[in-house]
Amino acid sequence: MVAAVPPARPPERFAPTHHLHMNPPYSRITGTGSYLPPRRVTNDALAAELATRGIETSDEWIVERTGIRARHFAAPDVPASDLAVPAARAAMQAAGVRPQDIDLIIVATSTPDMVFPATAAIVQHKLGIRGCPVFDVQAVCSGFVYALTVADAMIRAGTARRALVIGAEVFSRILNFDDRTTCVLFGDGAGAVVLEGSDTPGILATDLHADGQHVGVLCVPGHVRGGQVLGEPLLRMDGQAVFKLAVNVLDKAARAVLEKAGKPASDVDWLIPHQANIRIMQGTARKLGLPPEKVVVTVHEHGNTSAASIPLALDHAVRSGQAKPGQTLLLEGVGGGFTWGALLLNL
Ligand code: ACO
Repeated sequence: MVAAVPPARPPERFAPTHHLHMNPPYSRITGTGSYLPPRRVTNDALAAELATRGIETSDEWIVERTGIRARHFAAPDVPASDLAVPAARAAMQAAGVRPQDIDLIIVATSTPDMVFPATAAIVQHKLGIRGCPVFDVQAVCSGFVYALTVADAMIRAGTARRALVIGAEVFSRILNFDDRTTCVLFGDGAGAVVLEGSDTPGILATDLHADGQHVGVLCVPGHVRGGQVLGEPLLRMDGQAVFKLAVNVLDKAARAVLEKAGKPASDVDWLIPHQANIRIMQGTARKLGLPPEKVVVTVHEHGNTSAASIPLALDHAVRSGQAKPGQTLLLEGVGGGFTWGALLLNL
């Protein structure tokens, strides 16, 4: 497999983590990493592939409605854990920590390797780590914000000191390539962070929500019964309903974390939203009064990678030099469930 990320940034660019004897008041990201499967599929290539099935679409339509120009698809036999592992290794290298230093692994995914055990257990094994607690978080495209919030709480509670928090997805497995309204939107990939206890502020505030009455607007309704898959195990979405809900709830969650942290929106150096649609991302920035230059955008190259999209964008921002240590980042996710949430942090 080909690593799709530039060389790791030197660990000294992050604030040092002190050896803590009491529960740390904060958790802090000390390293980021990401991985994209090597097969990059442009809109034109996807349109040509869909045309062979009698499905009509175009680069022009996809770019205009979503901002997506290309996405990466994993090979059919590559599971989410195989994308998670190189992303996790890159994050550990950036943080200057070894696999045996990790004492918690959380994987946010809606496309797990198996029904059970958790993909986090498979990732743990592939990284050569034993003994620490591992589990998956299933909150679709909000999964990474949910997972980071849980890891932050566990670190501040003294349950863990150094966590790997990963978003990894192979959405290509659950796309209906006969449905042009959804199959052009998604891609595969993984992003990861190392989160450590710290006596200086890292994560400043979090805000999570869900409203299960909207289960039907975005779901994969298939399920296993008696050894058979019943119902359609492919993604189904009411795009316009998702669009309207997303802009509204993202604005509320963003304002909630700013209020909890006692900061004005003007203190945000970078907005790192879930990368689903450039129009949703620009809409939420506009509502917050943030200029478009402060929004980290990777949707044009990655498509919507669900729980992987925020850590992929975060790693891109860090490694490209956009996001610098000490800056304030606002992460926000929204997805199936309906779930949504935001997280404010100092890098
Ligand atoms: N190519 C060409 N034409 C298309 C395509 C396509 N790929 N898809 C739909 N169309 C057509 C439709 O058939 C329709 O044609 P008609 O007017 O003749 O009926 C026309 O384009 C417009 O369709 P709309 O659905 O109205 O297009 P819209 O502007 O709403 O854009 C989109 C659709 C991009 C899906 C938008 O609604 C959206 O981005 N919604 C949010 C999706 C999202 O964020 N999802 C992720 C949530 S995260 C998670 O949990 C997975």
